[in-house]
Amino acid sequence: MAAGALGKAYDATWGRAFARFYDRALKATEENGLGEMRAALLAEARGRVIEIGAGTGVNVDLYGPGVEDLTLVEPDEHMAARLRERVGRGARVPRRLVEAPAEALPFADDTFDTAVATLVLCTVPDPAAAVTELARVLKPGGRLLFIEHVRSADAGSARWQDRFEKPWRFMADGCHCNRDTAATLGASAFRVERLEHGKLPKAIPIVRPLISGTAVLAS
Ligand SMILES: C[S@@+](CC[C@H](N)C(=O)[O-])C[C@H]1O[C@@H](n2cnc3c(N)ncnc32)[C@H](O)[C@@H]1O
Repeated sequence: MAAGALGKAYDATWGRAFARFYDRALKATEENGLGEMRAALLAEARGRVIEIGAGTGVNVDLYGPGVEDLTLVEPDEHMAARLRERVGRGARVPRRLVEAPAEALPFADDTFDTAVATLVLCTVPDPAAAVTELARVLKPGGRLLFIEHVRSADAGSARWQDRFEKPWRFMADGCHCNRDTAATLGASAFRVERLEHGKLPKAIPIVRPLISGTAVLAS
């Protein structure tokens, strides 16, 4: 998880376990639709690509032929350790792992063509700052591809998300189940080109509402 947000002891124990069991915990979700959604979205990635909060690297082998090189950003040491193993395995394009938070990306302005965020704007401590950073490091006309679980549009369901936000955040390593990520994107320098509403397959109700799509920077 993001260093320090819930304390070092928590991070050393639960953070490590979370990284270790992440792929297994998501297996049914991936097999029942999320994996296909990821592949369809990532086929749109082009040129120099940055992925924030890349986790264990679930996306790394799903990128299409349009990708020139892949920069995977991940601040959590436990996730990064797992990601490093995947990054090293038989890559078709150059890939590098950079341990940094999305809110402070160590790259020059206008570096990348495509940015990717999957199930990560729920967890970064400051999602608006992360999106601002993505806009900075993307070239004019660059695109953001996203899949995020979000705050429910239904007021009753959103109230349950608010009630369970704290215990869920503790269990799910910093994940906020009630974030209005579409609003964060709408208030950013990006113009949302495509926004689809769906459901995270095989997920409990508080993390079921899902958005996916693309957003573009003015060229
Ligand atoms: C739920 S996992 C998602 C992993 C992966 N993106 C996926 O699609 O499965 C959330 C990820 O966000 C990372 N994260 C937490 N704080 C972050 C930050 N400030 N900047 C970037 N990533 C962060 C976590 O370490 C974790 O790897």
